[in-house]
Amino acid sequence: MIFSALSPLLRVPLLASLTRDSLLRMDPETAHGATINALRLGLAPQQDGPDAPELKTSIAGLELSNPVGMAAGFDKNGEVPRALALMGFGMVEIGTVTPRPQSGNPKPRLFRVAAAEGVINRMGFNNDGHDDVFRRLNDVRVPAALGVNIGANKDTADFISDYARGVARFARIADYLTVNISSPNTPGLRDLQQSEALKRLLQAVLTVRSKSPVRVPVFLKIAPDLDEAALDSIAAVIAATDLDGLIVSNTTISRDPIAGMENAAEMGGLSGKPLFDLATIRLAQMRQRTSLPIIGVGGIHSPQSALEKFEAGANAIQLYSALVFGGLDLLDRIKRGLAAAVRAQGKRNISELVGTRTADWASRK
Ligand SMILES: Cc1cc2nc3c(=O)[nH]c(=O)nc-3n(C[C@H](O)[C@H](O)[C@H](O)COP(=O)(O)O)c2cc1C
Repeated sequence: MIFSALSPLLRVPLLASLTRDSLLRMDPETAHGATINALRLGLAPQQDGPDAPELKTSIAGLELSNPVGMAAGFDKNGEVPRALALMGFGMVEIGTVTPRPQSGNPKPRLFRVAAAEGVINRMGFNNDGHDDVFRRLNDVRVPAALGVNIGANKDTADFISDYARGVARFARIADYLTVNISSPNTPGLRDLQQSEALKRLLQAVLTVRSKSPVRVPVFLKIAPDLDEAALDSIAAVIAATDLDGLIVSNTTISRDPIAGMENAAEMGGLSGKPLFDLATIRLAQMRQRTSLPIIGVGGIHSPQSALEKFEAGANAIQLYSALVFGGLDLLDRIKRGLAAAVRAQGKRNISELVGTRTADWASRK
């Protein structure tokens, strides 16, 4: 994880070497740890000035000053949500968090595919567990929508009860929850996307939510590796529930866009630029099947690609991998580009651009 806009770091001799180029030369997981540490030390740049009014967004009852979020997996343990919000993200999703701490897969487990600006990870839900993360979040005020992404321990006897426990634990302190059933790195997890399992999962999760004192919005995060029949069955299941929205998508197990490149043979989920087309096609195909809010994720790497997610049908967006290659000023460029696109089309708000090219994207292969 590399931010190019770490200019305040340059004033701190110890951290002066943490430039984007030097981070790109480091082992990827070491670079990520160094970036989290820099953020924890308060060395991140902060946004000066409010967001453009064109970017104000309402999604599933959440009021966002801008619709650009940090995707799950960057801050798995809720260590730096406030720093990320102060940088200018309109939402910050921490996690995935599982009930018990777990160490994840053996290292190395994070790889760059530099030629394609892609990332492959098989982290395997390394995280501190519910108790530690809850304590950390309980102590912090985050000036953005705070999402908690919940998952299941690899060795759990019952996947569904792990999600139910996540809702019970975090409903009170999260602005929204994400039920993540789309990581490719926990064997069996993606099977929860199948109709019968998904029904049982959502029933359990939403029953726990209905008993919590506040009605926290719940999103379901799905994989891009689903065909249209699978999207049909997910749409049918969610239509019969009071789920609040979808996140499309997680990483892909496909290697087609990076065939023959460095690290392409590594196991895990591919993200970043090579995921963009697949994730945006699935987003548009899901938009044709539901009127629920959708957060579009996967391969956003420029203001234009961010705009295309909205045109394909997203109500808000998240990104992660492109910050590795593009630096943090990408966030600022994306927000300025989106506001300019709204004005250039004679509109007043980004919501007016949602779904203007859904059919086009949905029919791509
Ligand atoms: C290193 C890494 C770890 C991730 N961990 C998680 C995770 O714990 N939970 C989750 O829902 N998604 C996780 N993701 C997926 C991202 O949230 C996002 O869906 C995906 O990377 C596509 O967006 P991007 O192309 O902008 O990175 C992870 C991604 C990366 C690169």
